[in-house]
Amino acid sequence: VNATAVACANIALVKYWGKRDEALNLPARGSLSVTLDALETRTTVTFDAERPADVLVVDGIERAGAALARAARVLDLLRARAGVGAEGPRALVTSANTFPYGAGLASSASGMAALVTAGAAALGLDLDPAERSVLARRGSGSAARSIHGGFVEWRAGERPDGADSVGVPLHPAAHWELRVVVAVVAAAGEKAVPSTEGMRHTAATSPYQPAWLAAVDTDLVAARAALAARDLAALGAVAERSALRMHAAMLAADPALLYWRGATVEALHTVRALRARDGLAAWATIDAGPHVKVLTTPADAPAVAARLAAVPGVERVVASRIGGPARVEANAAAERPTEVTS
Ligand code: DP6
Repeated sequence: VNATAVACANIALVKYWGKRDEALNLPARGSLSVTLDALETRTTVTFDAERPADVLVVDGIERAGAALARAARVLDLLRARAGVGAEGPRALVTSANTFPYGAGLASSASGMAALVTAGAAALGLDLDPAERSVLARRGSGSAARSIHGGFVEWRAGERPDGADSVGVPLHPAAHWELRVVVAVVAAAGEKAVPSTEGMRHTAATSPYQPAWLAAVDTDLVAARAALAARDLAALGAVAERSALRMHAAMLAADPALLYWRGATVEALHTVRALRARDGLAAWATIDAGPHVKVLTTPADAPAVAARLAAVPGVERVVASRIGGPARVEANAAAERPTEVTS
């Protein structure tokens, strides 16, 4: 009763920042993302009738608190779906990332998508991607998108139960050979406010939140059209303004949510100069953290990466292709779960 699955992180080009139902994790608006091949989570779930409680091990370290609570919530939904109920077997979840965990690089999205995919397989459940997307969403909203590869829209949906609030694949990765260059910005000091809390705070205190939400539907229309036409200048423009408007709403919260570091702003200036001065394809987006992700072409990616790497405060750069869907893996790795070191 174990299974291993792999899922990729995703980066939203039209952002999700605001919920209409926090218990079911239903978003106030839709969002649209690309799946990132280079940022991957591999998760093994082993159910065991003898195990007293769910255990979560990420990158070799046992996790408690919010991370464990989220995983257990999703495992409870899977157990209920499998009809094994509240008394069903507990799980050992071992997870490994190809990128730093909890560094604002969307580990919750790939993590929850991999957990749902592996957990369902381990319980012998044959769930279609839409159903896995709904379950992943309950763990973390953006995870609804990481079930699919390529270019994905998470529909806000209308139903109060959230059955139609689901990630929908718009185009597979092969539709468009793009690159995303991730500039990892060193962030010393206080821990960033987690997304769930940051969204709640922005919705409660930012006078700009209604204006931010009002702009999202127009951006979704523009992004879908740009994607279908493979118009990178149009898609890049939507992505950059969506990110900056989201951050404007955060900055107007009281007290302000400031996820940026100095290097974040320098990287933004670099991206603008790459476009205006060097004529390269480069458009920036930023999530609830200091890192800058830049949408570009395969031809321009090396120059974009080199220039971002030279920005003081940028620790390293990772160039990613567009990734594929979450998938179950052949079961060799499941026989030897990662060692626990703490
Ligand atoms: C800024 O999906 O992490 O990355 O649903 O509360 O778990 P929860 O939040 P989460 O938020 C992601 C916010 C974002 C924008 C995006 O990915 O669309």
